[in-house]
Amino acid sequence: MQENYIVSERYLITGCNGQLGQVLQKAYPKATALGKDDLDISDEKQVQGIDWSKYDVIINAAAYVNADHSETDEGRERTWQSNAVGPRNLAKAAIENDIHLIHISSEYVFDGTIKNHHEDEPFTPLSVYGQTKSAGDLVVSLVPKHHIIRTSWVVGDGHNFVKTMKNLADMRIDPKVVDDQYGRLTFTSELARAIDYIINNNVEYGTYNLSNSGEIKSWAAIAKDVFELAGHDRDRVTPISTDEYRANKHPFAPRPTYSDMDLSKIQRAGFESYDYEPLLREYVEGLGVVK
Ligand SMILES: NC(=O)c1ccc[n+]([C@@H]2O[C@H](COP(=O)([O-])OP(=O)(O)OC[C@H]3O[C@@H](n4cnc5c(N)ncnc54)[C@H](OP(=O)(O)O)[C@@H]3O)[C@@H](O)[C@H]2O)c1
Repeated sequence: MQENYIVSERYLITGCNGQLGQVLQKAYPKATALGKDDLDISDEKQVQGIDWSKYDVIINAAAYVNADHSETDEGRERTWQSNAVGPRNLAKAAIENDIHLIHISSEYVFDGTIKNHHEDEPFTPLSVYGQTKSAGDLVVSLVPKHHIIRTSWVVGDGHNFVKTMKNLADMRIDPKVVDDQYGRLTFTSELARAIDYIINNNVEYGTYNLSNSGEIKSWAAIAKDVFELAGHDRDRVTPISTDEYRANKHPFAPRPTYSDMDLSKIQRAGFESYDYEPLLREYVEGLGVVK
C-alpha cells in the first residue's frame, strides 16, 4: 500500500463495516471511516450535512448486497435506496465540492450471456440488485472526477461464498453447488490495492473492471477447491445446474452465467491483478476450524 498519511486524512470511506470497508479502514487508518449508523448514504440530509471541505476523495464501499432478498418487496426498496439513491447523493456532493468519487460496481449490471465482460458492454441487468447497481453507475458517471470499479465474487472479512463452503466442510455437510456460473474471485485486499493504485497514479477517470486474475471456474469448482484446501474430500461437493438450485430457492435473483471480466483496461493503466488461487489458499488456511 502506498500510504500517504497527509493525503489519506482527506479520504472519506462509506460502508466501512462491510467486507471492503474493513480492509480500507486498515489501509487508511487516518481516513474518516463511516458505517451506516454514522452515515446512511441514502439520506440526502445526512450526506449534505458533512463538511465536505475536509475531503478530497470519497471511497464508496457502501451497498446493499443481498441479491436474493432484493427481489422481495422490502428488499427492493432498501436496495434502490442504498445502491442508487445513495450514489446519487454522493455524486451530488462530489460534483458540488469538486471531490474525487471512487465507487464500486458489479458484473451484475450485465446479463452474463457474453464472456469476458468489457467496460463498455451495454447494461442488461437481470435482477433488482443489478438494476440498482446500474443506476448507481449512471449517476456516478456524471461526476467529473470519478472512478467506477466493477468487480465480482468478493471475498473478505464477512459473509462470503468461500467462508460458507469452509464452514459446511467442517460441519460435515455436503453441499450442492451450481456448476454453470463462471467467474474469478476478487479478494478485498486486491480491491484495496487497485483503489490505492488508482488514487496515487493519476489513472484516467472512468470505469474499470477489477477482479483477481487466474483461471475462470464455476462456483462448484471453487467450492471443491475450498473443501480440498481445508483438508476435506472435494467430491463431497455435488455440482448442480442453476435451474435445479433455484427450484427450492425463494426469493431467488437471476445471476449472470458469465461473471468473468476483461482486465486489459486496468492493465493498460499499469495495474496487474494477482492470481486468486494462492490468495484462496492463504484465506482458507486463515479461517479457524468450525466444530
Ligand atoms: N460481495 C460481492 O460478492 C460483490 C460482488 C460484486 C460487487 N460488489 C460490490 O462491492 C462493494 C463492496 O461489497 P462488500 O462485499 O464489501 O459488501 P458488504 O460486506 O455487504 O458491505 C457493504 C456495507 O455497506 C453498508 N450499507 C448498506 N447500505 C448502506 C447505506 N445506505 N449507507 C451506508 N452504508 C450502507 C452495509 O451495512 P449493513 O450490513 O448494515 O447493511 C455494509 O456494512 C459493493 O459496492 C458491492 O455492490 C460486491
